[in-house]
Amino acid sequence: MKIGVVGLGYIGSVTAAVLASARNKVVGIEIDKTRLDSFKSGEPPIYEPGLKEILSKNKKNIKFSSDFSELDGSDVVFLTVPTPTVNGKIDLQYIFSAAESVQKAVTDAVVVIKSTVVPGTAKEVHKRTGLTIVSNPEFTREGTAIEDTRRPNRVIIGATDKKAVDIVDRVWAFTKAPVIKTTNENAEMIKYASNAFLATKISFINEIANLCERIPGCDVEVIAKGMGLDQRIAPYFLKAGIGFGGSCFPKDTAALASFARENGETMSIIESAIKVNDERLERVLKLLKEGAGGSLVHKKVGILGVTFKENTDDVRGSQIVKLIKMLRAETATVGFYDPKAKIELDGVYRFPTKERCVEDSDIVLVATEWPEFKNLKITNKPVVDAKRILNPRNFKSFKAVGLYT
Ligand code: UDX
Repeated sequence: MKIGVVGLGYIGSVTAAVLASARNKVVGIEIDKTRLDSFKSGEPPIYEPGLKEILSKNKKNIKFSSDFSELDGSDVVFLTVPTPTVNGKIDLQYIFSAAESVQKAVTDAVVVIKSTVVPGTAKEVHKRTGLTIVSNPEFTREGTAIEDTRRPNRVIIGATDKKAVDIVDRVWAFTKAPVIKTTNENAEMIKYASNAFLATKISFINEIANLCERIPGCDVEVIAKGMGLDQRIAPYFLKAGIGFGGSCFPKDTAALASFARENGETMSIIESAIKVNDERLERVLKLLKEGAGGSLVHKKVGILGVTFKENTDDVRGSQIVKLIKMLRAETATVGFYDPKAKIELDGVYRFPTKERCVEDSDIVLVATEWPEFKNLKITNKPVVDAKRILNPRNFKSFKAVGLYT
């Protein structure tokens, strides 16, 4: 098929790459010139494991452009543009403007909204443009995005037009994933409900972690393992830590809570999950203060990892970036090491290696699950593990979320 992908962020670029590798002819549209040039030169502007290689291997099947008219003749066009929140409410301007540009460029393409949008959006886009809209949310994690796109747990296809549903079904047939065909609104809601549920699972275990820190003999890691073996609970998304960040969970939980209120319902569980998450930073700050002997005033805090999670360069919604601001308000001097983070922070030194970061600090915080931090051994200064990846036996002074010490 000829497939267009509009908006080459993490999801768009991975969707384009995977569909090109599934032997489609893909046109990737990106309006930011710098980003577009990076894709054209074969150096994607984002780090996602495997992305650069798969783009290079399939370059004869993929073309990058800022010109929407290149979409002419497409069978399917995916919209993968950002849907940010403004004051907690979803902002759909990029969806509407992308759809309008696509509408001018194509004749009878099926337009697929892959971006996360509140229920009713597909209908509104159809009303504004007359386009046939299919809702096909993604469930892709950064860091494992290629694999998640090639082998998703399920494919959700929401639309009223049967022919359009069948085309999108054919696009993803190679994944062999179970398919749910439903209304646009159900598809849109499935995405929010899934993300909100996963975020809630994380806040749940983080709340258990808070209690564990007060009870001698308790360790949230063991408790999560014991819970996760129950197949009804499952072991996933039960890792206590510094709280969820990223470009999805914080914005999607806020957008769903605000959408619910607009529709006369209060999502108490989701609102609590957000609150528990916001409070994680104070919790980690408290552990750092205790580790540093009561105060962080003029202490040098070395942070290992600032991305919102491991195996990405993405710092959007990173809890650690927020924590750094809080630490500086405490007059601590902050330095960090991260193997990939795309960030520069005013007044915060970036160490070239983790060894240097540890050496030049009074206290060390492990904040991201990068594999290279796992075997850390430090005996001459306090260490706080906010992600529970370290072996407590490798440290003399050790504090961790969810562990009584
Ligand atoms: C998420 C969803 O998983 C994906 O389905 C959706 O389409 C986009 O949002 P992503 O944001 O890439 O993906 O990362 P994810 O692995 O879900 O982690 C989100 C945040 O939760 C990270 O900050 C991560 O560190 C944190 N997390 C995750 C935990 O604190 N504990 C866990 O058990 C799992």
